[in-house]
Amino acid sequence: MSILVTGGAGFIGANFVLDWLAQRDEPVINLDKLTYAGNLENLAGVQGDARHIFVRGDIGDTRLVGRLLNEHRPRAVINFAAESHVDRSIHGPSEFIQTNIVGTFYLLESVRAYWGALEGEAKERFRFLHVSTDEVYGSLTKDAPAFSETSRYEPNSPYSASKAAGDHLVRAYHHTYGLPVLTTNCSNNYGPYHFPEKLIPLCILNALTGKALPIYGDGLQVRDWLYVKDHCSAIRLVLDGGRVGETYNIGGWNEKTNLDVVQTLCDILDELRPLNPASGEGQVGSGKDSSSLPASQLPLSTAHSPLTTYRSLITFVQDRPGHDRRYAIDASKLERELGWKPQETFETGLRKTVVWYLANQSWVANVTSGGYRRWVERQYGE
Ligand code: NAD
Ligand code: DAU
Repeated sequence: MSILVTGGAGFIGANFVLDWLAQRDEPVINLDKLTYAGNLENLAGVQGDARHIFVRGDIGDTRLVGRLLNEHRPRAVINFAAESHVDRSIHGPSEFIQTNIVGTFYLLESVRAYWGALEGEAKERFRFLHVSTDEVYGSLTKDAPAFSETSRYEPNSPYSASKAAGDHLVRAYHHTYGLPVLTTNCSNNYGPYHFPEKLIPLCILNALTGKALPIYGDGLQVRDWLYVKDHCSAIRLVLDGGRVGETYNIGGWNEKTNLDVVQTLCDILDELRPLNPASGEGQVGSGKDSSSLPASQLPLSTAHSPLTTYRSLITFVQDRPGHDRRYAIDASKLERELGWKPQETFETGLRKTVVWYLANQSWVANVTSGGYRRWVERQYGE
Protein backbone atom coordinates (compact mmCIF):
# COMPACT_ATOMS: atom_id res chain seq x y z
CA MET A 1 0.00 0.00 0.00
CA SER A 2 1.06 3.61 -0.54
CA ILE A 3 -0.36 7.11 -0.53
CA LEU A 4 0.06 9.91 -3.07
CA VAL A 5 0.62 13.35 -1.59
CA THR A 6 0.52 16.50 -3.74
CA GLY A 7 2.36 19.68 -2.71
CA GLY A 8 4.57 17.66 -0.38
CA ALA A 9 7.58 19.98 -0.80
CA GLY A 10 5.68 22.95 0.63
CA PHE A 11 5.30 23.95 4.26
CA ILE A 12 2.45 21.71 5.47
CA GLY A 13 2.94 18.96 2.88
CA ALA A 14 6.60 18.49 3.82
CA ASN A 15 5.78 18.37 7.54
CA PHE A 16 3.11 15.80 6.72
CA VAL A 17 5.48 13.61 4.68
CA LEU A 18 8.21 13.77 7.34
CA ASP A 19 5.80 12.88 10.15
CA TRP A 20 4.11 10.14 8.12
CA LEU A 21 7.38 8.36 7.34
CA ALA A 22 8.55 8.78 10.95
CA GLN A 23 5.45 6.95 12.14
CA ARG A 24 4.42 4.53 9.41
CA ASP A 25 6.11 2.25 6.91
CA GLU A 26 3.68 2.98 4.10
CA PRO A 27 5.49 4.64 1.16
CA VAL A 28 4.63 8.14 -0.07
CA ILE A 29 4.62 9.26 -3.68
CA ASN A 30 5.16 13.00 -3.49
CA LEU A 31 4.05 15.05 -6.52
CA ASP A 32 5.08 18.69 -6.40
CA LYS A 33 5.59 21.31 -9.10
CA LEU A 34 8.33 23.03 -7.06
CA THR A 35 7.00 26.56 -7.43
CA TYR A 36 8.75 29.29 -5.42
CA ALA A 37 7.07 27.76 -2.32
CA GLY A 38 8.24 24.19 -2.93
CA ASN A 39 11.63 23.33 -1.51
CA LEU A 40 13.36 19.95 -1.61
CA GLU A 41 15.46 21.00 1.35
CA ASN A 42 12.29 20.62 3.45
CA LEU A 43 12.52 16.91 2.67
CA ALA A 44 16.22 16.45 3.48
CA GLY A 45 15.17 14.27 6.43
CA VAL A 46 13.88 11.57 4.06
CA GLN A 47 16.57 11.87 1.41
CA GLY A 48 17.66 8.38 0.34
CA ASP A 49 14.64 6.80 2.06
CA ALA A 50 13.23 4.24 -0.39
CA ARG A 51 9.74 4.83 1.02
CA HIS A 52 9.73 8.38 -0.37
CA ILE A 53 9.34 8.78 -4.14
CA PHE A 54 9.52 12.40 -5.25
CA VAL A 55 8.14 13.39 -8.66
CA ARG A 56 8.28 16.94 -9.97
CA GLY A 57 5.06 17.78 -11.79
CA ASP A 58 1.74 19.58 -11.93
CA ILE A 59 -1.49 18.26 -10.41
CA GLY A 60 -3.17 19.44 -13.63
CA ASP A 61 -1.04 17.14 -15.82
CA THR A 62 -3.52 14.29 -16.31
CA ARG A 63 -1.06 12.10 -18.23
CA LEU A 64 1.54 12.29 -15.48
CA VAL A 65 -0.95 11.89 -12.63
CA GLY A 66 -2.71 9.01 -14.43
CA ARG A 67 0.63 7.26 -14.91
CA LEU A 68 1.61 7.73 -11.26
CA LEU A 69 -1.73 6.40 -10.04
CA ASN A 70 -1.64 3.34 -12.29
CA GLU A 71 1.98 2.57 -11.54
CA HIS A 72 1.91 2.97 -7.74
CA ARG A 73 -1.75 2.06 -7.03
CA PRO A 74 -2.06 4.33 -3.94
CA ARG A 75 -4.90 3.71 -1.48
CA ALA A 76 -5.32 7.47 -0.97
CA VAL A 77 -4.52 10.84 -2.51
CA ILE A 78 -3.99 13.81 -0.19
CA ASN A 79 -4.12 17.14 -1.99
CA PHE A 80 -2.01 19.86 -0.36
CA ALA A 81 -0.88 21.45 -3.65
CA ALA A 82 -2.02 25.04 -3.99
CA GLU A 83 -1.01 28.63 -4.36
CA SER A 84 -1.38 29.63 -0.72
CA HIS A 85 -0.42 33.27 -0.08
CA VAL A 86 -3.26 35.81 0.13
CA ASP A 87 -1.06 38.84 -0.67
CA ARG A 88 0.27 37.17 -3.81
CA SER A 89 -3.31 36.41 -4.90
CA ILE A 90 -4.07 40.13 -4.64
CA HIS A 91 -1.08 41.08 -6.83
CA GLY A 92 -1.76 38.31 -9.36
CA PRO A 93 -4.72 35.93 -9.08
CA SER A 94 -4.08 33.98 -12.27
CA GLU A 95 -1.84 31.23 -10.82
CA PHE A 96 -4.38 30.76 -8.03
CA ILE A 97 -7.17 30.12 -10.51
CA GLN A 98 -4.92 27.82 -12.49
CA THR A 99 -3.75 25.57 -9.65
CA ASN A 100 -6.46 25.84 -7.01
CA ILE A 101 -9.40 25.53 -9.40
CA VAL A 102 -8.29 24.18 -12.78
CA GLY A 103 -5.52 22.03 -11.25
CA THR A 104 -7.91 20.60 -8.66
CA PHE A 105 -10.42 19.84 -11.42
CA TYR A 106 -7.87 17.90 -13.51
CA LEU A 107 -6.57 16.11 -10.42
CA LEU A 108 -10.14 15.04 -9.63
CA GLU A 109 -10.57 13.81 -13.19
CA SER A 110 -7.39 11.71 -12.96
CA VAL A 111 -8.41 10.30 -9.60
CA ARG A 112 -11.95 9.55 -10.78
CA ALA A 113 -10.61 7.56 -13.73
CA TYR A 114 -8.24 5.59 -11.47
CA TRP A 115 -10.81 4.98 -8.71
CA GLY A 116 -13.48 4.05 -11.27
CA ALA A 117 -11.31 1.20 -12.52
CA LEU A 118 -10.57 -0.16 -9.03
CA GLU A 119 -12.51 -3.14 -7.77
CA GLY A 120 -13.55 -4.77 -4.53
CA GLU A 121 -11.72 -3.79 -1.36
CA ALA A 122 -9.29 -1.47 -3.17
CA LYS A 123 -12.23 0.58 -4.44
CA GLU A 124 -14.00 0.44 -1.10
CA ARG A 125 -11.11 1.74 0.97
CA PHE A 126 -9.81 4.41 -1.47
CA ARG A 127 -9.97 8.03 -0.24
CA PHE A 128 -9.32 11.47 -1.77
CA LEU A 129 -8.52 13.94 1.02
CA HIS A 130 -8.62 17.61 0.04
CA VAL A 131 -6.83 20.11 2.29
CA SER A 132 -8.63 23.43 2.44
CA THR A 133 -8.80 26.52 4.59
CA ASP A 134 -11.03 28.39 7.04
CA GLU A 135 -10.76 31.43 4.76
CA VAL A 136 -13.53 30.02 2.53
CA TYR A 137 -16.02 30.97 5.27
CA GLY A 138 -15.16 34.68 5.04
CA SER A 139 -14.76 37.05 7.96
CA LEU A 140 -16.34 36.98 11.45
CA THR A 141 -17.41 39.91 13.57
CA LYS A 142 -15.86 40.21 17.04
CA ASP A 143 -18.43 38.18 18.97
CA ALA A 144 -19.79 35.86 16.27
CA PRO A 145 -19.52 32.12 16.94
CA ALA A 146 -16.55 30.33 15.38
CA PHE A 147 -16.84 28.73 11.92
CA SER A 148 -18.46 25.30 11.94
CA GLU A 149 -18.65 22.84 9.04
CA THR A 150 -22.06 24.26 8.14
CA SER A 151 -20.98 27.91 8.02
CA ARG A 152 -21.78 29.57 4.72
CA TYR A 153 -19.02 29.92 2.12
CA GLU A 154 -18.24 33.66 1.76
CA PRO A 155 -14.68 33.92 0.41
CA ASN A 156 -13.27 37.44 0.17
CA SER A 157 -9.86 37.21 -1.52
CA PRO A 158 -8.86 35.71 -4.87
CA TYR A 159 -7.01 33.05 -2.83
CA SER A 160 -10.00 32.07 -0.69
CA ALA A 161 -12.36 32.24 -3.67
CA SER A 162 -10.10 29.84 -5.58
CA LYS A 163 -9.95 27.47 -2.60
CA ALA A 164 -13.75 27.67 -2.24
CA ALA A 165 -14.18 26.75 -5.91
CA GLY A 166 -11.84 23.78 -5.44
CA ASP A 167 -13.85 22.64 -2.40
CA HIS A 168 -17.08 22.82 -4.39
CA LEU A 169 -15.61 20.67 -7.15
CA VAL A 170 -14.49 18.08 -4.59
CA ARG A 171 -17.98 18.05 -3.08
CA ALA A 172 -19.57 17.71 -6.53
CA TYR A 173 -17.34 14.76 -7.45
CA HIS A 174 -18.63 12.95 -4.38
CA HIS A 175 -22.29 13.75 -4.96
CA THR A 176 -22.25 13.18 -8.70
CA TYR A 177 -19.76 10.37 -9.20
CA GLY A 178 -19.56 8.87 -5.71
CA LEU A 179 -15.84 9.63 -5.40
CA PRO A 180 -14.94 8.89 -1.73
CA VAL A 181 -13.75 12.33 -0.67
CA LEU A 182 -12.89 13.95 2.65
CA THR A 183 -12.34 17.71 3.05
CA THR A 184 -10.53 19.47 5.87
CA ASN A 185 -10.72 23.23 6.50
CA CYS A 186 -8.04 24.41 8.85
CA SER A 187 -6.89 27.64 10.42
CA ASN A 188 -3.51 29.41 10.22
CA ASN A 189 -0.63 26.95 10.52
CA TYR A 190 2.80 27.81 11.85
CA GLY A 191 5.94 25.81 12.62
CA PRO A 192 9.12 24.51 10.95
CA TYR A 193 9.70 25.01 7.19
CA HIS A 194 7.16 27.88 6.97
CA PHE A 195 8.06 30.05 3.99
CA PRO A 196 9.00 33.54 5.23
CA GLU A 197 6.39 35.44 3.23
CA LYS A 198 3.84 34.56 5.96
CA LEU A 199 3.49 36.63 9.15
CA ILE A 200 5.28 34.46 11.74
CA PRO A 201 8.39 33.38 9.81
CA LEU A 202 8.65 36.82 8.18
CA CYS A 203 8.72 38.48 11.59
CA ILE A 204 11.21 35.98 13.06
CA LEU A 205 13.63 36.54 10.20
CA ASN A 206 13.11 40.30 10.11
CA ALA A 207 13.69 40.54 13.86
CA LEU A 208 16.91 38.55 13.61
CA THR A 209 18.21 40.88 10.93
CA GLY A 210 17.06 44.09 12.64
CA LYS A 211 14.36 44.88 10.10
CA ALA A 212 10.89 46.29 10.67
CA LEU A 213 8.11 43.90 11.73
CA PRO A 214 5.28 45.01 9.42
CA ILE A 215 1.80 44.97 10.94
CA TYR A 216 -1.02 45.57 8.47
CA GLY A 217 -3.55 48.24 9.50
CA ASP A 218 -4.23 48.35 13.24
CA GLY A 219 -2.98 44.80 13.88
CA LEU A 220 -6.20 43.84 15.62
CA GLN A 221 -7.23 41.26 13.02
CA VAL A 222 -7.72 37.87 14.63
CA ARG A 223 -6.46 34.49 13.41
CA ASP A 224 -6.73 31.06 15.04
CA TRP A 225 -3.24 29.53 15.14
CA LEU A 226 -2.55 25.81 14.71
CA TYR A 227 0.86 24.20 15.13
CA VAL A 228 1.60 22.40 11.87
CA LYS A 229 2.30 19.02 13.50
CA ASP A 230 -1.13 19.14 15.17
CA HIS A 231 -2.61 19.76 11.73
CA CYS A 232 -0.75 16.73 10.35
CA SER A 233 -2.03 14.47 13.15
CA ALA A 234 -5.58 15.64 12.44
CA ILE A 235 -5.22 14.82 8.74
CA ARG A 236 -3.96 11.32 9.56
CA LEU A 237 -7.00 10.78 11.79
CA VAL A 238 -9.45 12.06 9.18
CA LEU A 239 -7.83 9.84 6.54
CA ASP A 240 -8.10 6.79 8.82
CA GLY A 241 -11.55 7.36 10.28
CA GLY A 242 -13.32 10.31 8.66
CA ARG A 243 -16.77 9.71 7.20
CA VAL A 244 -16.80 9.79 3.41
CA GLY A 245 -18.27 12.99 1.95
CA GLU A 246 -17.85 14.88 5.24
CA THR A 247 -15.84 18.01 5.95
CA TYR A 248 -13.85 18.50 9.16
CA ASN A 249 -12.72 21.82 10.60
CA ILE A 250 -9.26 21.82 12.20
CA GLY A 251 -8.19 24.63 14.53
CA GLY A 252 -5.92 25.22 17.48
CA TRP A 253 -8.40 27.03 19.79
CA ASN A 254 -5.87 29.87 19.74
CA GLU A 255 -7.50 33.10 18.68
CA LYS A 256 -4.94 35.94 18.74
CA THR A 257 -4.67 39.38 17.25
CA ASN A 258 -1.75 39.83 14.86
CA LEU A 259 -0.29 42.38 17.25
CA ASP A 260 -0.44 39.83 20.10
CA VAL A 261 1.27 37.25 17.93
CA VAL A 262 4.13 39.53 16.99
CA GLN A 263 4.56 40.86 20.52
CA THR A 264 4.71 37.30 21.93
CA LEU A 265 7.26 36.44 19.26
CA CYS A 266 9.35 39.45 20.28
CA ASP A 267 9.21 38.42 23.93
CA ILE A 268 10.42 34.89 23.11
CA LEU A 269 13.26 36.34 21.04
CA ASP A 270 14.15 38.77 23.83
CA GLU A 271 14.61 35.71 26.04
CA LEU A 272 16.33 33.35 23.57
CA ARG A 273 18.42 35.87 21.60
CA PRO A 274 18.55 38.98 23.81
CA LEU A 275 19.56 42.36 22.48
CA ASN A 276 22.17 43.90 24.74
CA PRO A 277 23.49 47.05 23.18
CA ALA A 278 24.73 48.43 26.52
CA SER A 279 27.42 45.75 26.80
CA GLY A 280 28.04 45.72 23.05
CA GLU A 281 26.80 42.12 22.82
CA GLY A 282 23.49 42.60 21.01
CA GLN A 283 22.81 39.77 18.58
CA VAL A 284 20.61 41.12 15.84
CA GLY A 285 21.59 39.51 12.54
CA SER A 286 24.74 37.43 12.53
CA GLY A 287 25.70 38.20 16.10
CA LYS A 288 26.13 41.93 15.47
CA ASP A 289 25.26 44.68 17.92
CA SER A 290 22.08 46.28 16.53
CA SER A 291 23.72 49.68 16.83
CA SER A 292 26.27 48.58 14.24
CA LEU A 293 23.58 47.79 11.64
CA PRO A 294 23.20 50.27 8.79
CA ALA A 295 20.33 52.68 9.40
CA SER A 296 18.65 51.37 6.22
CA GLN A 297 18.10 48.04 7.97
CA LEU A 298 16.26 49.59 10.88
CA PRO A 299 12.82 51.18 10.94
CA LEU A 300 12.98 54.97 11.03
CA SER A 301 11.72 55.18 14.59
CA THR A 302 14.65 53.14 15.90
CA ALA A 303 17.37 54.05 13.42
CA HIS A 304 18.96 56.48 15.82
CA SER A 305 18.33 54.79 19.15
CA PRO A 306 19.79 51.41 20.20
CA LEU A 307 17.34 48.51 20.47
CA THR A 308 16.67 46.91 23.81
CA THR A 309 13.65 44.83 22.84
CA TYR A 310 12.51 43.38 19.53
CA ARG A 311 9.13 45.02 20.15
CA SER A 312 10.68 48.33 19.05
CA LEU A 313 10.89 46.91 15.52
CA ILE A 314 7.09 46.67 15.25
CA THR A 315 5.93 49.02 12.48
CA PHE A 316 2.38 49.65 11.33
CA VAL A 317 2.09 49.57 7.53
CA GLN A 318 -0.68 49.91 4.96
CA ASP A 319 -3.45 47.35 5.37
CA ARG A 320 -4.08 44.41 3.02
CA PRO A 321 -6.95 45.24 0.61
CA GLY A 322 -10.16 43.46 1.69
CA HIS A 323 -8.40 42.18 4.82
CA ASP A 324 -10.60 39.68 6.71
CA ARG A 325 -11.04 40.85 10.29
CA ARG A 326 -11.43 37.61 12.19
CA TYR A 327 -11.23 33.84 11.65
CA ALA A 328 -12.06 31.31 14.36
CA ILE A 329 -12.52 27.57 14.04
CA ASP A 330 -14.87 25.35 15.99
CA ALA A 331 -13.05 22.01 15.85
CA SER A 332 -15.49 20.15 18.08
CA LYS A 333 -16.74 17.79 15.34
CA LEU A 334 -13.22 16.43 14.88
CA GLU A 335 -12.82 16.08 18.65
CA ARG A 336 -16.19 14.41 19.08
CA GLU A 337 -16.00 12.00 16.15
CA LEU A 338 -12.31 11.17 16.01
CA GLY A 339 -10.95 12.17 19.42
CA TRP A 340 -8.48 14.74 18.06
CA LYS A 341 -7.03 17.46 20.24
CA PRO A 342 -4.09 19.75 19.48
CA GLN A 343 -0.99 18.97 21.56
CA GLU A 344 0.49 22.46 21.50
CA THR A 345 -0.73 25.67 23.06
CA PHE A 346 0.16 28.81 21.12
CA GLU A 347 2.98 29.60 23.55
CA THR A 348 4.61 26.14 23.38
CA GLY A 349 4.21 25.91 19.61
CA LEU A 350 5.57 29.39 19.00
CA ARG A 351 8.59 28.75 21.21
CA LYS A 352 9.34 25.51 19.31
CA THR A 353 9.02 27.43 16.06
CA VAL A 354 11.44 30.19 17.11
CA VAL A 355 13.93 27.58 18.37
CA TRP A 356 13.68 25.77 15.02
CA TYR A 357 14.42 28.95 13.02
CA LEU A 358 17.36 29.80 15.27
CA ALA A 359 18.76 26.30 14.80
CA ASN A 360 18.25 26.15 11.03
CA GLN A 361 20.00 29.23 9.72
CA SER A 362 21.32 27.49 6.61
CA TRP A 363 17.75 26.55 5.57
CA VAL A 364 16.83 30.19 6.13
CA ALA A 365 19.78 31.47 4.11
CA ASN A 366 18.91 29.24 1.16
CA VAL A 367 15.22 30.09 1.24
CA THR A 368 15.79 33.83 1.35
CA SER A 369 17.36 33.84 -2.10
CA GLY A 370 16.80 36.16 -5.07
CA GLY A 371 13.17 35.35 -5.88
CA TYR A 372 12.14 35.84 -2.27
CA ARG A 373 13.93 39.18 -2.02
CA ARG A 374 12.16 40.43 -5.15
CA TRP A 375 8.80 39.58 -3.52
CA VAL A 376 9.70 41.44 -0.32
CA GLU A 377 10.75 44.52 -2.32
CA ARG A 378 7.50 44.46 -4.27
CA GLN A 379 5.26 43.97 -1.24
CA TYR A 380 6.94 46.23 1.32
CA GLY A 381 9.13 48.55 -0.80
CA GLU A 382 11.98 49.87 1.29
P1 NAD B 1 2.82 26.23 0.42
O1 NAD B 1 2.60 27.39 -0.48
O2 NAD B 1 3.89 26.28 1.44
O3 NAD B 1 3.10 24.93 -0.46
C1 NAD B 1 2.35 24.60 -1.60
C2 NAD B 1 3.08 23.50 -2.34
O4 NAD B 1 2.30 23.14 -3.49
C3 NAD B 1 4.46 23.91 -2.86
O5 NAD B 1 5.40 22.90 -2.58
C4 NAD B 1 4.25 24.07 -4.35
O6 NAD B 1 5.42 23.80 -5.11
C5 NAD B 1 3.16 23.06 -4.62
N1 NAD B 1 2.36 23.37 -5.81
C6 NAD B 1 1.84 24.58 -6.15
N2 NAD B 1 1.17 24.46 -7.33
C7 NAD B 1 1.26 23.17 -7.71
C8 NAD B 1 0.77 22.43 -8.81
N3 NAD B 1 0.03 23.00 -9.77
N4 NAD B 1 1.03 21.11 -8.89
C9 NAD B 1 1.79 20.50 -7.93
N5 NAD B 1 2.30 21.15 -6.88
C10 NAD B 1 2.02 22.47 -6.76
O7 NAD B 1 1.40 25.94 1.08
P2 NAD B 1 1.07 25.38 2.53
O8 NAD B 1 1.04 26.50 3.48
O9 NAD B 1 1.92 24.20 2.79
O10 NAD B 1 -0.44 24.93 2.30
C11 NAD B 1 -0.76 23.61 1.89
C12 NAD B 1 -2.27 23.49 1.70
O11 NAD B 1 -2.92 23.82 2.92
C13 NAD B 1 -2.83 24.47 0.67
O12 NAD B 1 -3.85 23.81 -0.02
C14 NAD B 1 -3.40 25.61 1.49
O13 NAD B 1 -4.46 26.23 0.83
C15 NAD B 1 -3.87 24.86 2.71
N6 NAD B 1 -3.88 25.64 3.95
C16 NAD B 1 -2.77 26.28 4.41
C17 NAD B 1 -2.78 26.96 5.62
C18 NAD B 1 -1.58 27.67 6.18
O14 NAD B 1 -1.71 28.34 7.22
N7 NAD B 1 -0.41 27.57 5.58
C19 NAD B 1 -3.98 27.02 6.35
C20 NAD B 1 -5.12 26.41 5.83
C21 NAD B 1 -5.05 25.70 4.65
O1 DAU C 1 -6.50 30.92 7.66
C1 DAU C 1 -5.79 30.00 6.90
C2 DAU C 1 -4.87 30.72 5.93
O2 DAU C 1 -3.80 31.22 6.70
C3 DAU C 1 -4.37 29.83 4.81
O3 DAU C 1 -5.43 29.39 4.03
C4 DAU C 1 -3.35 30.56 3.94
O4 DAU C 1 -2.79 29.68 2.99
C5 DAU C 1 -2.24 31.08 4.86
O5 DAU C 1 -1.32 31.84 4.10
C6 DAU C 1 -2.83 31.93 5.98
O6 DAU C 1 -3.40 33.15 5.45
P1 DAU C 1 -3.25 34.56 6.19
O7 DAU C 1 -3.47 35.62 5.21
O8 DAU C 1 -4.06 34.58 7.43
O9 DAU C 1 -1.68 34.42 6.62
P2 DAU C 1 -0.51 35.51 6.63
O10 DAU C 1 0.61 34.90 7.40
O11 DAU C 1 -0.23 36.05 5.29
O12 DAU C 1 -1.13 36.67 7.52
C7 DAU C 1 -1.55 36.43 8.85
C8 DAU C 1 -2.16 37.72 9.36
O13 DAU C 1 -1.08 38.68 9.53
C9 DAU C 1 -3.13 38.36 8.41
O14 DAU C 1 -4.16 38.99 9.16
C10 DAU C 1 -2.32 39.40 7.67
C11 DAU C 1 -1.31 39.83 8.70
N1 DAU C 1 0.01 40.23 8.18
C12 DAU C 1 0.64 39.41 7.30
C13 DAU C 1 1.87 39.73 6.79
C14 DAU C 1 2.56 38.85 5.77
C15 DAU C 1 0.61 41.40 8.62
O15 DAU C 1 0.05 42.13 9.48
N2 DAU C 1 1.84 41.72 8.13
C16 DAU C 1 2.50 40.96 7.21
O16 DAU C 1 3.61 41.34 6.76
